[in-house]
Amino acid sequence: MLNKINVAIVGASGYTGLELLKILINHPTFVISYVANSEGNTTVSKLHPSLTGVFDMEVKKANAADIKAVADVVFLALPHKASMGFAKELLALCGLKIVDLSADYRLELDTYEEHYCPHEDKENLPNAVYGMPEFYRNELKKANLVANPGCYPTASFLALAPFLPYIKEGASVFIDAKSGISGAGKKLTDATSFVSVSENMTAYNPFKHRHTPEIVEKAKLIGGKDLKINFVPHLIPVTRGMLVSVYVSLEEEIDAKSVLKEFYKDEEFVRIFDEPVNIKNTSGTNFCDIFVAQNGKDLFINSSIDNLLKGASSAAVVNANLMCGLEENCGIPKIAYVP
Ligand SMILES: NC(=O)c1ccc[n+]([C@@H]2O[C@H](COP(=O)([O-])OP(=O)(O)OC[C@H]3O[C@@H](n4cnc5c(N)ncnc54)[C@H](OP(=O)(O)O)[C@@H]3O)[C@@H](O)[C@H]2O)c1
Repeated sequence: MLNKINVAIVGASGYTGLELLKILINHPTFVISYVANSEGNTTVSKLHPSLTGVFDMEVKKANAADIKAVADVVFLALPHKASMGFAKELLALCGLKIVDLSADYRLELDTYEEHYCPHEDKENLPNAVYGMPEFYRNELKKANLVANPGCYPTASFLALAPFLPYIKEGASVFIDAKSGISGAGKKLTDATSFVSVSENMTAYNPFKHRHTPEIVEKAKLIGGKDLKINFVPHLIPVTRGMLVSVYVSLEEEIDAKSVLKEFYKDEEFVRIFDEPVNIKNTSGTNFCDIFVAQNGKDLFINSSIDNLLKGASSAAVVNANLMCGLEENCGIPKIAYVP
C-alpha cells in the first residue's frame, strides 16, 4: 500500500476550496495537513458549517514555510495574481508539487499579459503543465507545477477537440456557454445577487471573456489550428453546472458521432451520449458529458460539466493523483447529484 501524502489547501474558504476539502476528506491516500485562507484564525467548521461533525481543523493565514514543513502537495484555490505570488514563494522552497486553480499559469506569457496583468513569475511559467489529462497525461506525471484549466475552456475544448482535424484553418467557431452562479466565486456582486439571477438569464462579455484566449491557444497548441473562437457565456439561475453548445462547419462531411466515440474511447471521465446532455448528470462528478448532432457538414456539439469539479476541484485532484503516481481516478467523485 502507498504511504499517505500530506496536502495543503490554500483558499479553503472559497467555493472551489470547499470542493477540494470535500474530495480530499475522503481520499484514500491524500491527507489534509494544512488549510489556509487570507486571514486565518478560524476553523474549517466555522468557514463551512456543512462540514461540522465531519472534518475540522485550524485554518491559518497562508505561509509558505509552514506549508513546506507539513505538506508535499499544495492546492492553490486563489484568485489570479494572488496565486502566482504565492506559487512563486512555494516553488522557491523546492520539493513541493503545486496545482494552481487560477489562470496564472495557463497561458503563454504574451497572451496572459494581454488579458490579465503583468506576470510575476516568469521563471516558473514555462515549466507549468496544462492540467488536462486527456491531452497532457504523460507530462502531468512528471510535473511539479500544474495549471488547472478554466471551467469554460474545459467544457468547450473537450467538445471541440475531436473535430479540430476537420475544421478549416482560420474558421469561425461559435461557442454558446451557460454557467451556474458558483462559477463567479463567493464574492457578491450586483450581477450575481438573487434578484438579478433568479428567474433570469443573461449573456456577459460576449466575444471578450478572458477564457476565449485560453480556448484559442489550446486549439493551436493541441490541435494545430488557428481558429476564430466566438465565445459567449451566460449566467443561468442554478448554483452549479455548465452547459456548452459549439456550432461549427467542417471542411468535409464525416460521421461525427463515430469520430467523437473513437476519440474518447479510453477516457474514463468523458462520456458520449446519444441525446443532448444536461447539467444534472454531471453535477457532483468529474465527468464531461458530450453529444453531437450533424446537419451535413454543420455540427452542434453539446457538453456538460460541473464547473466546480471537472471545471476546477476534482480536475485538480486528478492532476495531483497523476503528479504523485496514483491512479488517475483515485478518490474522484463519479455519482451525480440526481434527482
Ligand atoms: N468557481 C469556479 O467555478 C471556478 C472554476 C475554475 C477555476 N476557478 C478559479 O479558482 C480560483 C478560486 O475560485 P473560487 O470560485 O473558489 O473563488 P472564491 O470563492 O472567491 O474564493 C477565493 C479564495 O481565495 C482567498 N483569497 C482571496 N484573495 C486572496 C489573497 N489576496 N490572498 C490569499 N487568499 C486570498 C479567499 O480567502 P478569504 O475568504 O479569506 O477572502 C478564498 O478562500 C480562482 O482563480 C477561479 O478563477 C473557479
